[in-house]
Amino acid sequence: MIPPRPQPTEGRGSVLRFARAFRRDLLSALPDRLYRAWMAEFRSPLVHSFFCNDPALIRLILKDRPGDFPKSNRLRAGLAPLLGNSVFVTNGPEWAAERRIIDPAFEGGRLHETLPAIFGAADALVARLKPGFHDIEPPASHAAADVIFRTLFSMPIEHETAAQVFAAFRAHQDAQPVVNLAALLPWPRWLPHPHSRRTRQTASLIRGLIAGLVAGRMQSIRRGDAPDDLATRIMTTPDPQTGRCFSEPQMVDQVAIFFLAGHETSASALAWALWLLAAHPEWQDAVAAEAAGLTPDMASVNALRITRAVFREALRLYPPVPMMVRQAACPQTMRGRPVPQGAQLVLSPWHLHRHRRLWDDPDSFDPGRWSRPESRSSIRDAFIPFSAGERACPGAGLAMIEGVVMLARVVGAFRLRPGPVPPIPVARLTVRAQDGIAIHLTPR
Ligand code: HEM
Repeated sequence: MIPPRPQPTEGRGSVLRFARAFRRDLLSALPDRLYRAWMAEFRSPLVHSFFCNDPALIRLILKDRPGDFPKSNRLRAGLAPLLGNSVFVTNGPEWAAERRIIDPAFEGGRLHETLPAIFGAADALVARLKPGFHDIEPPASHAAADVIFRTLFSMPIEHETAAQVFAAFRAHQDAQPVVNLAALLPWPRWLPHPHSRRTRQTASLIRGLIAGLVAGRMQSIRRGDAPDDLATRIMTTPDPQTGRCFSEPQMVDQVAIFFLAGHETSASALAWALWLLAAHPEWQDAVAAEAAGLTPDMASVNALRITRAVFREALRLYPPVPMMVRQAACPQTMRGRPVPQGAQLVLSPWHLHRHRRLWDDPDSFDPGRWSRPESRSSIRDAFIPFSAGERACPGAGLAMIEGVVMLARVVGAFRLRPGPVPPIPVARLTVRAQDGIAIHLTPR
């Protein structure tokens, strides 16, 4: 059993109706032909956009000429109250300088240092879960937020400030559910962005709390008693080109995006992966067998081959970031079509990962596909849960370890059964379920 794809509402009337459907549920607002097309054009009086599903186009936009396809100013405007000038929204030299400081903290060689935080959060999740039916999304969000606080600031989610930030993020997302896709909303670019008062209030509450954490950390760095975690590394690493470190306000922007990008995404992936295992007991048993020998060291995590294939397959079927948007900085021709300057280019992991012409049996849950040689070559540019090229997710390595460890620990402790109704995926900030994801847990 696999949860159904949302049903498209092809040909539904006006821009306004599309905008309303889009706000409610992007996935079913889009036409079914996007699962077969290499490129599709959408034109309205306010937005001119192109869906790019051709792996060659994705390579061009993300890897070969990313400078010609920056993130759009609309996206920046949409996210500004919360994220300021964080690395997620900047472009050009400003963005490159931010990545030069951030990337070393996430380097592969340093990832083993995050293992105590990840195992601590996974064990805390298992201790919190009780037998019986659950909507697994809230505990997954809680656990992913726990990982971020432990890895960034060496504090568990139970810490008072961490708990306040987590609660404020929940309120913020309720107020502004589709922020990442703000660039696609048919909103005239000359109008100020329609942030609600509540969005601005929750954003400023979150930023105030994060500013307190950053200021506290700056003091302990000066005193010389700061823990060696991601926050300390990022705050003490100078840009190798200019020698400058992040100022405190710049660091607030970056922490806000680490928290947002790092916990919502991981939570979505974990919740869907657990659902898929609940619905596929044969794979669940294989993961449980692998999990039995797991110890908190890198060699043991690397040995979880089946669990990793399951997590990748969950990222394929339910990519937490369903779509990414770029803007054509100058006129282009793509697949013979003119793409004007300023057009919005939509790269959709959601459609690409289920593309009829790129994958065998695309809607099936088949972790075995990751060890078959033919799929390994064909998926190189058709599997982009973390994006690709210079703007790819800096947290990808951390997220893969986190996902695999969380799955192994939960499935090692509990037998999972699916709830009576398959969850319906909808695109909010990340891919979530319309009415939650019900799973029954029995201790093993
Ligand atoms: C399963 C978990 C995750 C998924 C699927 C994911 C996916 C992505 C994707 C697709 C992007 C590119 C978005 C775009 O270009 O529009 C991105 C960017 C980013 N992610 Fe992740 N992410 C995950 C976890 C994390 C974690 C754990 C962190 C940090 C702790 C993180 C930090 C970031 C940041 C800072 C960016 C912006 C990079 C830039 O624009 O240069 N992500 N992520």
